[in-house]
Amino acid sequence: MNNHIIEAEDLHKSYFKKDSKDIEVLRGISVKIERGKITIILGASGAGKSTLLHVLSGLDAPDKGRVIFEGQDISKLDDARLSRLRNESIGFIFQFHHLIPEFTALENVAIPQLIAGRGFNQSKKRSKELLEIVGMGDRLNHKPGELSGGEQQRVAVARALANNPAILFADEPTGNLDSENGRVISDLFKKINSELGITILMVTHNEDLIELGDIVYKMRDGILHKEEGG
Ligand SMILES: Nc1ncnc2c1ncn2[C@@H]1O[C@H](COP(=O)(O)OP(=O)(O)OP(=O)(O)O)[C@@H](O)[C@H]1O
Ligand SMILES: [Mg+2]
Repeated sequence: MNNHIIEAEDLHKSYFKKDSKDIEVLRGISVKIERGKITIILGASGAGKSTLLHVLSGLDAPDKGRVIFEGQDISKLDDARLSRLRNESIGFIFQFHHLIPEFTALENVAIPQLIAGRGFNQSKKRSKELLEIVGMGDRLNHKPGELSGGEQQRVAVARALANNPAILFADEPTGNLDSENGRVISDLFKKINSELGITILMVTHNEDLIELGDIVYKMRDGILHKEEGG
């Protein structure tokens, strides 16, 4: 098996806005993401971190360049196959958790599994197990509004793991948390990587998260710069 789960080649992306200058956010990024490792991309606000994650995960298309995911050029997949790849191989954790407010923690974790075609009882059982892994086993029937910010983010982590993804993308996962809760989430990423063997790609402006990374890049002027000794 190739030891790179993702190979991105010469990614370019600009945003065009009427009545204002175009913004060139990705200016020829080539990067290989190593399987089984934690990769951290550090960058200031507006550096293009979210844009890059969206392109690497197939949520958004580059203007130029390509993304090879597990040996497949994702631009060549039709919508149905791309959706399936995203649902089955990729877990995504956003800065804002995007949990569905009307549903309980258990239901939020079960939904992607039901979409993937897993049965109801099996989904429920796995959701319980995942919520226990993230330390939320005693909050199964709480709705997001009844949970703290850190607890909501842990439910979002459990949800991202629901279909046993090959890679977990995390966009500023501790951005809304105090340092105590940030540490809980950061320890959780370490555990997910070492115990479940899931590759992690995280973008953040938080320098405290560097120590988590096996590989660290800085994103500046639309390009990635590899940090030594990461
Ligand atoms: N849909 C859009 N239309 C126009 N400009 C956009 C759009 N999305 C992002 N941008 C611009 O592109 C640049 C990069 O945005 P991006 O969200 O990728 O940055 P970021 O590094 O994730 O920032 P943050 O740390 O604040 O989340 C910013 O200058 C932003 O204003
Ligand atoms: Mg962002």
